[in-house]
Amino acid sequence: MAKYLVEKNGPLRGEVAISGAKNAVLPILAATILAEGPCEILEVPALRDVDVMCRLLRGVGFHVEEYYEEGRILVEPRKLTTDEVPRDLVKKMRASFLAMGPLLAKAGQAMVAAPGGCTIGARPIDLHLKGFRALGATVDDGGDPISARADKLTAGKVYLDFPSVGATENIMMAATLAEGVTVIENAAEEPEIVDLANFLNKMGAKIKGAGTDTVRIEGVQALHGAKHAVIPDRIETGTFMVAAAITRGDVLIKNALPDHVKAVTAKLMECGVTVEDLEEGIRVRGDRGPLASTDIKTMPYPGFPTDMQSQFMALMTTVKGTSVIVEKVFENRYMHIGELNRMGAGIRIEGNNAVIPGEQRLHGAQVIATDLRAGAALVLAGLRAEGVTEVSEIYHIERGYADFIGKLQALGAKITKVED
Ligand code: UD1
Repeated sequence: MAKYLVEKNGPLRGEVAISGAKNAVLPILAATILAEGPCEILEVPALRDVDVMCRLLRGVGFHVEEYYEEGRILVEPRKLTTDEVPRDLVKKMRASFLAMGPLLAKAGQAMVAAPGGCTIGARPIDLHLKGFRALGATVDDGGDPISARADKLTAGKVYLDFPSVGATENIMMAATLAEGVTVIENAAEEPEIVDLANFLNKMGAKIKGAGTDTVRIEGVQALHGAKHAVIPDRIETGTFMVAAAITRGDVLIKNALPDHVKAVTAKLMECGVTVEDLEEGIRVRGDRGPLASTDIKTMPYPGFPTDMQSQFMALMTTVKGTSVIVEKVFENRYMHIGELNRMGAGIRIEGNNAVIPGEQRLHGAQVIATDLRAGAALVLAGLRAEGVTEVSEIYHIERGYADFIGKLQALGAKITKVED
């Protein structure tokens, strides 16, 4: 198994270009199932999860060409050969469940293996299914696979008990071909939902309100192919912002959208990090004075993203003062605390709060990337820790960060990938 060796580093300096957003390209690729003609997706990041979604599309009979050097994927819809998403792909990647809405709408029936929990929490799919039922589908979730069928979907009104990103996307995709106007209330407002809606609208869908808490989808007869460039990854952006801060460096982050990282920017500035929106990109400086602690509560967008919680926690171990982080989106997303503590972080869990003492002298250790963002946090902590940090199970990191170590190395980081 491959691992990363990370050495203590001085300030990271230079420029980094952000790739297309993982969490936007995955639903967009799932949405191509709805298309009657070829789709061309641009600004595609070279990620394992993207390849899994392409395999899923091939699994249902489509022709897919992946050109990662050009950041381009071509999807040519063919007649669906199955209405079942291959089980091994759902087990490999939860986002495979996003194929259920499009398959149900296109084929009138869909079967997807129950995705199950993961290290960050139970992750139920009840809200996705609530939405399909509201569109008139008969859903059987008593067994595995979960199945849904409807000869013709009809519009409905869905209130999401929690603004789930995946449920909003799945229901939005299914509703594009439902008869009438569907309304999703308490919808998630993440930028990736807006990007998906923009793509669907280019395909001929009639979606309004994406990016607000109420999304209206007027069903159409059919969707055609479209060409679309994926938005930049705001979590990769935030991760490099924290990389600049934790090493007290000076990094220009190109191809990033400042509006999408407002919460991260605000919290970094509260700590004393300088963040400037320049024409060329976001310049982040952690070298302009001592950094101090701040408290964080993760929330649905536009709140502070849960996907930035662990990286920020790594930063908080290095600043002056104690900070408290509260995870409000996923109940079990504290797995990285045990790993950071192996490096000397001394973080305590008190109820739902993580209490992080600042100014810890981190030291290298053998640590495990328990999930994608936890893995990124351990790499960032490793850049500050005395000695060498060995991060294993790095396939998690490679699922979601395009050329993570190449980009860090270009900023001066001492990080290498070795095979065990
Ligand atoms: C997406 C992102 C993930 C991010 C998360 C929250 C993708 C591919 N993944 O995941 O990186 O961490 O948003 O920003 O875009 N919930 C239910 N019932 C449901 C669905 C969700 O109770 O049917 C709960 C979940 O358990 C969780 C919360 O809603 O507590 C948020 O989950 P959700 O927004 O659905 O996350 P994902 O779409 O899975």
